[in-house]
Amino acid sequence: IHNIVFSNSVTASISVAHEIADLIKKKQAEGKKCVLGLATGSSPVKVYDELVRMHKEEGLSFKNVITFNLDEYYPMEKQDIQSYWYFMHEHLFNHIDIPKENINIPDGTVSHDELEAYCANYDKKIQDCGGLDFQLLGIGRTGHIGFNEPGSNRNSGTRIITLDHITRSDAAETFHGIDNVPRQAITMGIRTVLKAHRIVLLAWGSSKASIVAKAVEGDITAEVPSSYLQLHENTTFVLDEEAAADLT
Ligand code: F6R
Repeated sequence: IHNIVFSNSVTASISVAHEIADLIKKKQAEGKKCVLGLATGSSPVKVYDELVRMHKEEGLSFKNVITFNLDEYYPMEKQDIQSYWYFMHEHLFNHIDIPKENINIPDGTVSHDELEAYCANYDKKIQDCGGLDFQLLGIGRTGHIGFNEPGSNRNSGTRIITLDHITRSDAAETFHGIDNVPRQAITMGIRTVLKAHRIVLLAWGSSKASIVAKAVEGDITAEVPSSYLQLHENTTFVLDEEAAADLT
């Protein structure tokens, strides 16, 4: 894992957005699709703001882009304002020219009976697109990436998981109380994420400092799922000074 520390999350986010834009343009020039793995939550918001700005002011086109989001609460309706479907449309998809059929977000309305096949098909669809060219990640205080909570296997694929109590309490404010936070989620697996050609993880603020240090410098263990990123050859942690504070 390579770390880059910025003085603040705005300049950091702009730099990540520019890396993504350059990749989209390079693929465009080659006449190819660009396959992006995307995250929700507070960490990537300013990256999406900059991508939207580049679309509106500089004509950056997303016509050749295919996206796969990391996760969605389960159960969850698309139009629910707490859904990751809603988040992605609000922050990115409603403001750019990506073809609707190129957007993939785990579906929180799939029935229990169909979940296993649905998740296997999500991984297959990524493979059929040629794999993820770029995966954007945040990190949870449990060390999760996507919703791969502690205990997640290195070889896990897309699946249904039970959310950690810490993760649910971090989401409690958005849901107006922990009792309203879903207990489960669909998440891409560790194996799914590690297959991406390029991975960039964003972390801002002092609340992420100790887990960032464990992920980068600690043992590779299922107890800190983000530590599996040490096994990936092309991963960068993009941090602000507060999130980098506990690194040696
Ligand atoms: C969201 C996701 C999660 C978040 C993580 C950090 O799609 O996969 O792993 O990235 O929980 O969330 P924030 O950015 O809100 O601190």
